[in-house]
Amino acid sequence: MDEVFYHRPVLLNEASAYLLENNSSKGYGVYVDCTLGGGGYTKKIIESQPEAKVIAIDRDVYAIEHCRKVLAEFGSRVIFVQNNFGSIKQIIHDAGFEKVNGIVMDLGLSTYQLNYEDGFSYQKDTMLDMRADKSQKLTAKDVLNRYDEKQLTKIFYDYGELKYGRQFAKEIVHLRNKKKLETTFELVELIREKVPPRYLNSDLSKLFQALRIEVNSELSNLEKVLDDGAECLEEGGVIAAVSYHSLEDRIVKNKLRSNEKLKVLTKKPVEPGEEEVAGNIRARSAKLRAAQRI
Ligand SMILES: C[S@@+](CC[C@H](N)C(=O)[O-])C[C@H]1O[C@@H](n2cnc3c(N)ncnc32)[C@H](O)[C@@H]1O
Repeated sequence: MDEVFYHRPVLLNEASAYLLENNSSKGYGVYVDCTLGGGGYTKKIIESQPEAKVIAIDRDVYAIEHCRKVLAEFGSRVIFVQNNFGSIKQIIHDAGFEKVNGIVMDLGLSTYQLNYEDGFSYQKDTMLDMRADKSQKLTAKDVLNRYDEKQLTKIFYDYGELKYGRQFAKEIVHLRNKKKLETTFELVELIREKVPPRYLNSDLSKLFQALRIEVNSELSNLEKVLDDGAECLEEGGVIAAVSYHSLEDRIVKNKLRSNEKLKVLTKKPVEPGEEEVAGNIRARSAKLRAAQRI
């Protein structure tokens, strides 16, 4: 698997600058990378802080397996944890620490997940899975075939901000009464018949986002890691988050602002420059926010 291109990190220099320059660990700190993915952020931290350790979390077993290989040279300085970052407090405790010097998260999907794991991309015909953690029971197929019309409508409005959420839900329920939905292209075909071609890609990406958020409980996990992460920071320690859509960014902004133990370091979100966006289309919607424990 390691010959496969895994992921190009977004806002890597900007996020690590906040994480590493705003605190006093002097190279000896303990950091948490909540979203290991292809290992870009963990590598940057470990290389620039010669004595630091990183607790590297991902709920996706493929990310952990990949990074065990590509980061092997750093030995026990990287502590790999396959788990949900929502359990950050327990994870830090189990790794043998109570407080850490910095926490970073780069949300959403890795390129590997989008290209090789089932259900995430509407451009590939795969099973409607969408689980980042394959040991979890709930899949996108379950959501689409079992949730009632009202529940589906709510997900499509709340997590996809889809104008035609109600119509999509109705159509899905109508179709699945004849035949259960199994694959991404069956879902794509259903939507194709409902929306004008110029809106198709944008509606599909919103619909897939909504399902992914539901399957992986993404927003509640994000709220939890921001609250509990702030508790686990040493004084002066920084929490930094890169988000990719407005629902995530709103949560990050509000959680950092409303926590009286944190001082916000980014008045406005930091966004990638033109050059980064030109070289990596995934970067175009990225927003970085950071705050420091006081
Ligand atoms: C955008 S990628 C991270 C890329 C990484 N920064 C790099 O440099 O390669 C996001 C990763 O976060 C993981 N992830 C998302 N939500 C998670 C959660 N609640 N707990 C643990 N990992 C999560 C995904 O499985 C994915 O591998």
